[in-house]
Amino acid sequence: MRRKFATACIEGHASKRAAAAGIGPKNQAILWRPKWRIAQRPAILTRNLPPKKPAQAPNPLKKPRKNAIDCPKNCRPGRRPKRERTMSLFSRRSDFDHQQNQLSQKITEMRRSGQIWADLSVSNPTRVGLSYPEPMLTALSTKDDLRYNPAPFGSIEARKAVAESLSRPATGKKPARAVDWRRIVLSASTSEAYSWLFKLLSDGGNCGDDVMAPSPSYPLFEHLARLEGLSLRSYRLAYDDAWYVDSGTLIPGPKTRAILAVSPNNPTGHYLHANDFAHLEALGLPIICDEVFAPYALEGAEDEDRIESLLDLNPKCLCFVLGGLSKQVGLPQMKLGWTVVCGPDDLVEEALARLELIADTYLSVSTPVQLALPRFLKEGDVVRKEIAERCARNLAVLKENLQQTAASVRRTEGGWTAVIELPRIQSEDQWISQLLDLGILVQPGWLYDFEREAFAVVSLLIEPDLFARAVAELKTLITRKVAEI
Ligand SMILES: Cc1ncc(COP(=O)(O)O)c(C=O)c1O
Repeated sequence: MRRKFATACIEGHASKRAAAAGIGPKNQAILWRPKWRIAQRPAILTRNLPPKKPAQAPNPLKKPRKNAIDCPKNCRPGRRPKRERTMSLFSRRSDFDHQQNQLSQKITEMRRSGQIWADLSVSNPTRVGLSYPEPMLTALSTKDDLRYNPAPFGSIEARKAVAESLSRPATGKKPARAVDWRRIVLSASTSEAYSWLFKLLSDGGNCGDDVMAPSPSYPLFEHLARLEGLSLRSYRLAYDDAWYVDSGTLIPGPKTRAILAVSPNNPTGHYLHANDFAHLEALGLPIICDEVFAPYALEGAEDEDRIESLLDLNPKCLCFVLGGLSKQVGLPQMKLGWTVVCGPDDLVEEALARLELIADTYLSVSTPVQLALPRFLKEGDVVRKEIAERCARNLAVLKENLQQTAASVRRTEGGWTAVIELPRIQSEDQWISQLLDLGILVQPGWLYDFEREAFAVVSLLIEPDLFARAVAELKTLITRKVAEI
């Protein structure tokens, strides 16, 4: 990512929360070192030690040891400095930069003092005034919750419920598709599914493997890959009245293990089209396609070549199609995601056999949520409909307001976010900061790795009246700033 994101504007992820809370610089850990390691050791550690030799004066004739490291004064010659030794207790993959930039500091302060009245960065459906039907709540209390029947991929009933739900295409125009429940793997979230798939496809451990991911896209990819010891290699999503995969940038390296795709993408809303998929498939690598936002189609639903789901295809390569309760029915707190494995039968079988061991090692999906799943998926239709209508309505309001300004809204085929291209009369951070001064929080394009400025990403999940008021303020700001030049 161009600038390390330490903003407080994405919710729900601990590292970002740590940044938001102002957790200090990388070497903070050294301050937490227990006192006894520096001063007095507990008796149990010293009891059987031989008596200490009296300190000797250094022998000036003795040569320093070969490869001795230059040490600060608190360190014996030839040894690594103490600080480095403490740091090496921790892995490189967990060494994320927690430092906040100026903008994120401002966001944190304004959040704390309650000055943000319109948070257009909210992607948490449980915080935007949606109504959840009563039966969804009661689904969680049955006597069977107290019985534990571990199953690596989840219970058969739960997997059948997912298969049934996926067999109904989102637009309702297409015929029902056949989804085999035996190829469905439940996990505690799509994020966890990524980590299992990375374990399946790569030896990780910083052995030089990478995965290809679209750019701009979901910022968490950087963390998900790195935590499995993988690095990210990007391919470009380009825009020419609509987003598309820039096939010239789809260049895997010798150690590329998989291609990631998000359809529709977060934040561009771009669905994979037949052409895009043909380019990805031609690489012959496994494809991990995140379809969490697939039920939320917006513009261009009539496009013939748009791929609603990879489940409608017969891919020639191994594919993993991801989804989950967090977006499907607006229940991120229930922690349940799924992976459908598809592609050539022999590869699917091998993948499932290996995944079974990975899933069995963690057994992470709770029994109550599996039991409640059929009800969540059925009753959740209402929630999904409300979210879809809200996103469509907010997108229309945004486009209508900004069409008479120097800003524009990029074509949004689906999902929960819209991308605004702001006039390049000032920097992206200046726009974001001025909106903040008005009490409106939007996400900067750099958070998603847009290749140039100035973009703002807004959530379409927001309660419509609030959204409309914020958009009216945005319109006024743009008009005023353009008039000033
Ligand atoms: C593209 C994408 N995939 C997955 C997720 C998270 O899904 P889960 O809650 O199942 O981990 C998000 C969350 O915003 C997302 O944007």
